[in-house]
Amino acid sequence: MLKAVIEREKEESRSIDLFEAIQDLKKELNAVILAHYYQEPDIQDIADYLGDSLGLSQQAAKTKADVIVFAGVHFMAETAKILNPDKLVLLPDLKAGCSLAEGCPAEEFAKFKATYPDHLVISYINCTAEIKAMSDIICTSSNAVKIVQQIPPDQPIIFAPDRNLGRYVSKMTQRELRLWDGSCIVHETFSQRRLIELKITYPQAEIIAHPECEEALLTHADYIGSTTALLKYSQQSASKTFIVATEPGIIHQMQKASPHKQFIPTPSTNNCACNECPYMRLNTLEKVYLAMKNRQPEIKLAEDVRQLAFKPIQRMLEMS
Ligand code: 13P
Ligand code: SF4
Repeated sequence: MLKAVIEREKEESRSIDLFEAIQDLKKELNAVILAHYYQEPDIQDIADYLGDSLGLSQQAAKTKADVIVFAGVHFMAETAKILNPDKLVLLPDLKAGCSLAEGCPAEEFAKFKATYPDHLVISYINCTAEIKAMSDIICTSSNAVKIVQQIPPDQPIIFAPDRNLGRYVSKMTQRELRLWDGSCIVHETFSQRRLIELKITYPQAEIIAHPECEEALLTHADYIGSTTALLKYSQQSASKTFIVATEPGIIHQMQKASPHKQFIPTPSTNNCACNECPYMRLNTLEKVYLAMKNRQPEIKLAEDVRQLAFKPIQRMLEMS
């Protein structure tokens, strides 16, 4: 029965102008659409705000809308809900997870944390609300270095859950960090060999990379930064060609901002489409429309966890 309703709705949504219908629903619901750069181009084009994880959290913290439609992954929509307990937060596909969040279960992390009782816990925003609730400060790829630099030098730190970002931050700050052993399945798939082959084919190209990439790959990069930082760099640099070592969804914005420049995605090891985030790509324009029409799937959170998770996010926003 439910399956039949979903199928009928899908059929209906195929026959309407989704862009127009979403604009109408935005007005009707007083909704804002926040989208990450790794979303498909149509979603990026209809979003009210497009950004990296930090920018999206900052927008979620200050929005006056009644409904937040989060075109991103679960931990991002959950962060918006932590900041806005009284607003309706919709995620077009609830299965849009993240390998970093999934690779850091709360029970195991609690044991890990208990082993180092004197450590301050700094967690990358790519984690569940339960992990945030056990953390002292949250960070994103754009402020991780800045946040660690503000911690007194004699204070030991646990950094979770991304070991690659952790290693990068450790190198940039010259601080020893106790790392949780997690990683992003997308950024770990980039092939170093293919990257070097591309550099030989395009010797003038600059390699720009996200700090979630493995250390060996980052050694080839001319510039390392969050998605927003990479986008800005590609606009400001005098180079005409870029080899992009992050999820290729961002290339839509890079190309829009610099139509005369060339952007080459870094291929993955097996020549598959594994350089696209399988979680981010679960969201489609059709699912955005259906989520707004049905006012679900909705992000729900236990209030005790939300209150605990709110504090380290608030600290991040203050320290950014
Ligand atoms: P930023 O949005 O901080 O660039 O991180 C990229 C990412 O992988 C989000 O999941
Ligand atoms: Fe998670 Fe990696 Fe996908 Fe970002 S790109 S949502 S870190 S799996």
